[in-house]
Amino acid sequence: MNVRRPLAVLTAGLVLSLSACGGGGAGSTDGASSSSAKPEDITVGVAMPTQTSERWIADGKAVKEGLEKAGYKVDLQYANDDIPTQGQQIDQMITKGDDLLILAAIDGTALSSQLDAAKAANIKVISYDRLIRDSANVDFYVSFDNYKVGVQQGTALLTGLGLLNADGSKGTATGPFNVELFAGSLDDNNAGFFWNGAFDTIKPFIDSGVIKIKSGQTKIDEAATLRWQQEVAQKRMEDLLTSAYSDGSKVDGVLSPYDGISRGIITALQNAGYGGSGNKMPIITGQDAEIASVKLINDGVQYATIFKDTRKLAEQAITVAEAYLDGKEPEANDTKTYDNGVKVVPSFLLQSDIVYKDNIKPLLVDSGYYTQAEVDAGQAS
Ligand code: BGC
Repeated sequence: MNVRRPLAVLTAGLVLSLSACGGGGAGSTDGASSSSAKPEDITVGVAMPTQTSERWIADGKAVKEGLEKAGYKVDLQYANDDIPTQGQQIDQMITKGDDLLILAAIDGTALSSQLDAAKAANIKVISYDRLIRDSANVDFYVSFDNYKVGVQQGTALLTGLGLLNADGSKGTATGPFNVELFAGSLDDNNAGFFWNGAFDTIKPFIDSGVIKIKSGQTKIDEAATLRWQQEVAQKRMEDLLTSAYSDGSKVDGVLSPYDGISRGIITALQNAGYGGSGNKMPIITGQDAEIASVKLINDGVQYATIFKDTRKLAEQAITVAEAYLDGKEPEANDTKTYDNGVKVVPSFLLQSDIVYKDNIKPLLVDSGYYTQAEVDAGQAS
């Protein structure tokens, strides 16, 4: 089980701001706004995709704890990455009379009927980290700057290969380097943002011949990983090694969009002898700073990951929920980027950081996200 220590400062601010709105929320009986409802009469439905990935466990926990601290009831559901299960869970939240919904979709295009029902019941919907598409009834989006996450993944790859220096200046390496590219799940709106950010960053080096994609698989649908699954990624890496590297050539770098995918890639590479003497591991990127992968970075097996502080995202979701429950419009910091196919959804986007071996301590340990003991063990206590 993955336990995050709350950021004292964030939590204190949250309690203050939420208690300031106590007594002015939505009614719990009909889902409609009512200025007389107390927080304890309000239930927030929280739908998360899966417990197979640490980050969603951390997100669910942080959202639940923050809302409960402010006095609200929380109806938290995980759907095992199963689309119909998530649809039913949200249907039930609406029938039960939950007053507001915070939803991290499995398939961002599969929730239109639930969102129609929410709208009809006057329930506000906050799309959490993954944009819900094809519906006018998404009220707000909280996430990270997902294109920039991709840029950071591309930058980490280039830095690891020596094509860039740590300060972003041109590195001394000349290549050519053999690189393979992985993308996330295509039904997740974020996958395209990560891919575009990363691809735009490395494209000049592909164009100049310094980076070679030996498999020839340079399109997102060739590189995609259904449901972001580790096993799917491992299988694809094995296939790539067989089809493009049986001539004795070596993989120098792998762009991976998520730590679970990176671990699948690493297993495939290790099974093929990489990481042994005279056969070094390629530069491999990731995302989410999952504890097992942070240890792999510390041990020099994975090169980098992207840290998205789930405590801050949860806090932001709660700030938005609080505004709606108090009958106010939440503050957006982006009203242009996230077009869901029907409307541009007002968003609040947070910033992420690249984690390399040498900044694990300042980013992850000093901020209280993990203890040094957890990093050393590769397991959260
Ligand atoms: C999230 C990533 C995560 C991925 C797989 C994406 O929607 O933004 O943080 O790695 O899903 O769970």
